[in-house]
Parts: sequence; C-alpha cells; structure tokens
Amino acid sequence: MNVLIVGSGGREHAIAWSVAKSPLADKIYCAPGNAGIEEYAECVPIGAMEFEKLAEFAASHDIGLTIVGMDDPLVGGIVDVFEEKGLRVFGPRKNAAILEGSKAFSKDLMKKYHIPTAAYENFTDPEKALEYLRTEASFPIVLKADGLALGKGVLICQDLAEAEEGVREIMQDKKFGSAGNTMVIEEFMTGREVSVLSFVDGKTIRPMTSAQDHKRAQDGDKGLNTGGMGTFSPSPFYTEEIDAYCMEHIFQPTVDAMAAEGRPFQGIIFFGLMLTQNGPKVLEYNARFGDPEAQVVLPRMKNDILEVMEACVDGCLDQIDLQFEDNAAVCVVLASEGYPVHYEKGIPMSGFENFKDKEGFYCFHAGTKRVDGRIVTNGGRVVGITATGRTLPEARANAYEATEWIRFDNKYMRHDIGKAIDEA
Ligand code: AMP
Ligand code: GLY
Repeated sequence: MNVLIVGSGGREHAIAWSVAKSPLADKIYCAPGNAGIEEYAECVPIGAMEFEKLAEFAASHDIGLTIVGMDDPLVGGIVDVFEEKGLRVFGPRKNAAILEGSKAFSKDLMKKYHIPTAAYENFTDPEKALEYLRTEASFPIVLKADGLALGKGVLICQDLAEAEEGVREIMQDKKFGSAGNTMVIEEFMTGREVSVLSFVDGKTIRPMTSAQDHKRAQDGDKGLNTGGMGTFSPSPFYTEEIDAYCMEHIFQPTVDAMAAEGRPFQGIIFFGLMLTQNGPKVLEYNARFGDPEAQVVLPRMKNDILEVMEACVDGCLDQIDLQFEDNAAVCVVLASEGYPVHYEKGIPMSGFENFKDKEGFYCFHAGTKRVDGRIVTNGGRVVGITATGRTLPEARANAYEATEWIRFDNKYMRHDIGKAIDEA
C-alpha cells in the first residue's frame, strides 16, 4: 500500500525509516517532510494543518494509510476530516487528542478515574488563581498553560513572586496565546522522569520499551526547556515491577477511561511519568510519538510498524505481540548554537555519507532543507544522531562518536545525554 506521513521533524524521519522497512509499504510520501526524509519518501509541499489538501492528496494518490506524526493537526481534528472522506488514518480523533490538547481535561480525567498524578486545581480566572497561590499554595509549585505550547507552557515557580509573574505571563499577557485561557496549578513532584509510548486501538494497549528525554538546553539539566536535546532507551530505572504497576494503575485505566467517556483513543499515547517516592505518577499525556523518543524507540522495535498501526486502526491490537531488541539506543540532538532562543539558519552541512551502510547508526533530520542540491540547517534542532549498542554505555559511546561525523559551523549539543545511566 501507499503511505502518507504528516510532519517534518526527526520523529517523522524515524517513522519514515521504519515504514520503509515494511514489506507492506509501496510508495511513501511525506508532507511536508525534510531533506533527510527524502531518502525514504517523496516529500510533498503541503502543510500539516492543510487538512483538505492532505485528504485530497491521499484520495488521489491511492494512500492506504496516513500516519499523523505531529500534535497540532491531531488536536485540530485531521483524523475526523480523513475519516469523513473514508480515508484510513492512524491517530486519535479530535475528541480523543484532547488528552494532549487540554491539560485541564487530562487532569480531570485522571482525578475521575483515580489515575495517579500530581494534585492540582484548574483556573479560568487569573484573580482566582492568584488568590489560591497567596492563600493555599506551597512552593515550589507548577503552572501549566492548558493548551499546546510547543512544550514550553510549563513553569516551575520557586516562590509566590515567581508564581504571580507566571500567572501574568500565561493568563494575562497570553505568552502562549489561547493555550493560556485556562491554567492548571499543580503540586511539584520530584523523581526520575521516564517516557513510555504505547500503541492503542481504542481498547487494547501495547506499551513500547521505555525512554528518557533531556529537555533542558545545557549540560547538567541547566538552561531553558527545549523540545528535547537527546534521549536514551531503555530507562534502567523503569523496572519490570514499575511497568506492571503502570499497566494496572495508569496505562489500561487511561484507555478504559477514554472509552468510557465516549472518546475511544486510537493511535499513540505517550505517558510522561515521574517515578516518585509514592510510586509512578503521570506528568503529562501526549497523543503522538515523542520527539526525540521515537528516534531511540523505533530503531529497537522488531515488529513491522505498518502491521501494528493497521491493527490499531482495525481494532485488533490484541493479536499483536510487540517486541523490542534486547539492546539499547542513545540519540544526541545536534542543534544550532543559541537554540531555543536566537540562532542562524541556512548553514551548509556535510558528512551525511558517513552513515551509509553503517548498521546501528542513524542521522535523523529534524530541521534541514535542500538548497541548490546542498543540505543546509533549517531549524533549532537540526539532526538527531542515534546509535544502538549492546548496553546503554556502548550505545552512548557510539552515538557520541557519530556526532563527529556531521559538520556545520554553529553546531551545538549536550555532552551528558544518558549520563544518568552511570547511576543506575
Ligand atoms: P510537561 O510538558 O507537562 O511534561 O512538563 C514539562 C516538564 O516540566 C516535565 O518534563 C517535568 O520536568 C516538569 N514538570 C511538569 N510537571 C511537573 C510537576 N508536577 N512536578 C515537577 N516537575 C514537573
Ligand atoms: N520529547 C518530548 C515530546 O515529544 O513531547
């Protein structure tokens, strides 16, 4: 069958690489794609939010399955538009993508169905939020814009003054736009973070192997929050015992809760978890693969990705035995110096040929484009270098070796991706 992938980042590159391995795949397209995705897919210049154009393209190019990688189109209802036209699509409908699209919704869902998460209150009135902070809150405390905010709508406030400033930014100055019409004030939790991505068909859930992201820009988890500077998989802190607990108290209950609410979820649920002293708790849900979590999880997956996605669409995921290699993977993001604030684009890149025929080494493009036949930088996160190894330390050594293979003038990376492994 022909496949259309919607998105343009490192995650979509990893998805395209995975789809290209499937014997079920004929022609692969990606909209809009990037310079790396071109290796596996024909990139078509249609934006991810142009639902009608995308659906027309799918209908006229005999697309058997459209895979939506990004959060914005999912939350905006792309799946509903495709389904209305009888087109097969992998991803949650709008009424289920709200699991990521509204933090207030997801917190209320967890409360109603007793899914462990941080204590919280939702606010639509900034005055009420301020009053709560002045009278009832203990610090540090966490403020979250309700809607999508490129992973930046979360503020951890050390004291009342910071929290007051946070309410102003989110609810009054609307720094994150309408995402801040509602705000969640949440208890601050401590512990190790772990990401568990899962395939879901509406009723059955098949969790993938675990991963951990590094969200801050600088070594030692300092600096600003970013989309993610690197990942490793599996997380040595995510034990079988914790996995069993999460399956019973978090994963299946979330799927059941969505079904009970009349919002059956088909697609990927990404559980952002914190392993606290009082057990695992949900930090956030996403309705799609993580980026750069996909870049370490998919290279370790043994199954044919199209077979698994088809099972999700057809509601027979219970027939799938999801399996991962008994190895490890590390992804180091090569970014533009200055990311996530100011950085230059359009810098010529070289070294891609070093990855040719090197098993277990991948260069997943995030922000690149081709200009006059030459690949140049085109974003803050430029490429993600993934390597596998028998163990996490081996995968990390391999990944850092391969970061040397790609050259561009304003290259920036963290040097401690996966360092936590040493403490495990
Ligand atoms: P989120 O987008 O909700 O995952 O939040 C982004 C990051 O903020 C998380 O990865 C955590 O590092 C941090 N964070 C979010 N919620 C909390 C919380 N309740 N307690 C402590 N840290 C948090
Ligand atoms: N890496 C975190 C995310 O994709 O949201």
